Amino acid sequence: MQKLKQLYEGKAKKVFATDDPECVIVSYKDDATAFNGLKRGTIVGKGVVNNKVTNYLMQLLEKEGVPTHFVEELSDRETAVKKVSIVPLEVIIRNISAGSFAKRFGVEEGIVFEQPTIEFSYKNDDLGDPLMNAYHALALKLATPAEIDTIKAMAFKVNDVLKAFFKAVNVDLVDFKLEFGRLSDGTIVLADEISPDTCRFWDSTTHEKLDKDRFRRDLGNVEDAYSEMMKRILG
Ligand code: TMP
Ligand code: ASP
Repeated sequence: MQKLKQLYEGKAKKVFATDDPECVIVSYKDDATAFNGLKRGTIVGKGVVNNKVTNYLMQLLEKEGVPTHFVEELSDRETAVKKVSIVPLEVIIRNISAGSFAKRFGVEEGIVFEQPTIEFSYKNDDLGDPLMNAYHALALKLATPAEIDTIKAMAFKVNDVLKAFFKAVNVDLVDFKLEFGRLSDGTIVLADEISPDTCRFWDSTTHEKLDKDRFRRDLGNVEDAYSEMMKRILG
C-alpha cells in the first residue's frame, strides 16, 4: 500500500490517503493535549504505545465479533485502516465514577457501578464536545435510530470484552471513549483508537493511574504509565 498526501491532522494523529480508495493510513504522534487543547505537551513514545495498544485491542475485539476499521499495522507508529466517515459522537462507557462524571454529579471517584453507563458527546471542538443524549443526536441527524441502536450495543459489547481482558492483567477499566465510523456501504464499525489517551486504567491492587490522567493532572511518570500499559497488554 502506498502512502499518498496528508488528508487531515488532528491533535494526536495524522491521516494519509493511499492508493487504495477504501483505505487510509493513520500516523500516531507524541503530542498530547487536554481540556480541549488548552493544555499541550509531549509524551515521548506515546504514538508507538497508542498505535500498538489500539491495534492489539481492535484485533481482540474483531475476534470477539466486533467489526472494526483495523486493516494492518505498517510500522511502530503507522496503521492502515478502512476509510470511514466518522459519526460525530464521542461514546463514553463508565464502570467506575471518575473525571467529568464525578465532577458533574458531585461524587467521589472510585464508586463501582452495578451496571455500566453510556453517554454521548457531540464531537465539536468549537463547542467543547458538549454532552448530549440520543434524542439530541437524532434531532441533529448525527445518526439514524438504527445506527444509535447499533452503536450502543457495540459499545456495551466492547466493554464486556475489554473489562474481562484488563481484569486478567490486573487493571480496572474505569471508563473509555469510543468513536464509530460508516464504511462506504453504510456499515457501522469501531474506529479511532483505544489507548491510555482514551481510557482510564487503574491498577487493580494499588489503584495507581496508568493513563492520560497522569498528564491531565500533572501526576508525573506519564511515559512510565504508557509503557507499563503496553507491557501488560502486549505481554
Ligand atoms: P471524562 O470523565 O473527562 O468525561 O472522560 C471520560 C473518558 O473519555 C476518559 O476515559 C477519557 C476519555 N476522553 C477522551 O478520550 N477524549 C476526550 O476529549 C475526553 C474529554 C475524554
Ligand atoms: N483530547 C482532548 C483534548 O484535547 C481532551 C482529553 O483527552 O482530556 O483536548
